[in-house]
Amino acid sequence: MKDIYILGIESSCDETAASIVKNGRDVLSNVINTQIDIHKLYGGVVPEIASRNHILNISEVVKLAIKEANMSLSDIDAVACTYGPGLVGALLVGLSYGKGLSYALDVPLIGTNHIEGHIAANYITHKDLKPPFLCVMMSGGNTQIVHIKDYTDFEVLGRTKDDAIGEAFDKVARIMELGYPGGPKIDELGKKGEPNIELPKTHFDNLDFSFSGIKTAVINLHHKNPDIKKEDLCKSFEKKVTEMLIDNTKKAIEQTGINTIVIAGGVSANSYIRNEFLNLKNCKVYMPDMKLCTDNAAMIASAGYYDFINGKISDLSLNAEPDLKI
Ligand code: KG4
Repeated sequence: MKDIYILGIESSCDETAASIVKNGRDVLSNVINTQIDIHKLYGGVVPEIASRNHILNISEVVKLAIKEANMSLSDIDAVACTYGPGLVGALLVGLSYGKGLSYALDVPLIGTNHIEGHIAANYITHKDLKPPFLCVMMSGGNTQIVHIKDYTDFEVLGRTKDDAIGEAFDKVARIMELGYPGGPKIDELGKKGEPNIELPKTHFDNLDFSFSGIKTAVINLHHKNPDIKKEDLCKSFEKKVTEMLIDNTKKAIEQTGINTIVIAGGVSANSYIRNEFLNLKNCKVYMPDMKLCTDNAAMIASAGYYDFINGKISDLSLNAEPDLKI
């Protein structure tokens, strides 16, 4: 069978990224321009500034991805672009650029779901991974348990009713003045702390999550008891949110009988969470390579490949969908 080369483009938040992936699994280039240093001045992503910087960066990032893969534009079989979920102005930059390229090169455009991209990061890391499996998606914008029935066939079994887990990490870190993005800071500080602070845990009869209660509890504790060690608060917070993730994962295993577990999304870079998932008994657990946990375009090219070979092609009328679901 002929090899298929997909150019992936990602611009849903504060990373402008482009990548070439062969046959959905082999990364030939993976260029990421992050705007973290710009947005940390404001304590979080400023959408308008993100869009403007995507416009400044996108051409160079795509050119570099082609160059690093040692290819030319004419070698590309299709262009896969994130069209949601994310910040609408930011999404539109990558999507419009991708549409232009697909039209100019006369190759298919594949509108790619960012959440499906995070799941596909695991196909790149683990060449043996194939559906079916359960994915615990934990990112800045989403937290859900998904039954991956096939490469393009998904069923969401449960999702957060309020904050995404990454949002909770970032807000807790912000209140403690740890900086942006907060997740990695809590990870580092938590390593030096003890999980000795009692925090509330939400649980539902189904597989849904809620993280706003624990977020508020941590914020209130920090304000009312300035003497509490930040390290202990970080560790206690990590322990409790991990329990929520693991509790629902166990329920999902019981409900579906599937014991291949995949974690995905930016928060899957958390060292405590990774460790606890590895300790799950009677399961085969997969997690993305650290550099593929947060936003990148290789994961978009990989997800786009599976859409492409399954005939899920978009046309030039495709619009950005900020609230796109799986
Ligand atoms: O997946 P992602 O890049 O964004 C979305 O696609 O939504 O995830 C970004 C999130 C941020 O909330 C960030 O704080 C969190 O991932 N994150 C972490 C770690 N690294 C990134 N959270 C906890 N521990 C980490 N080591």
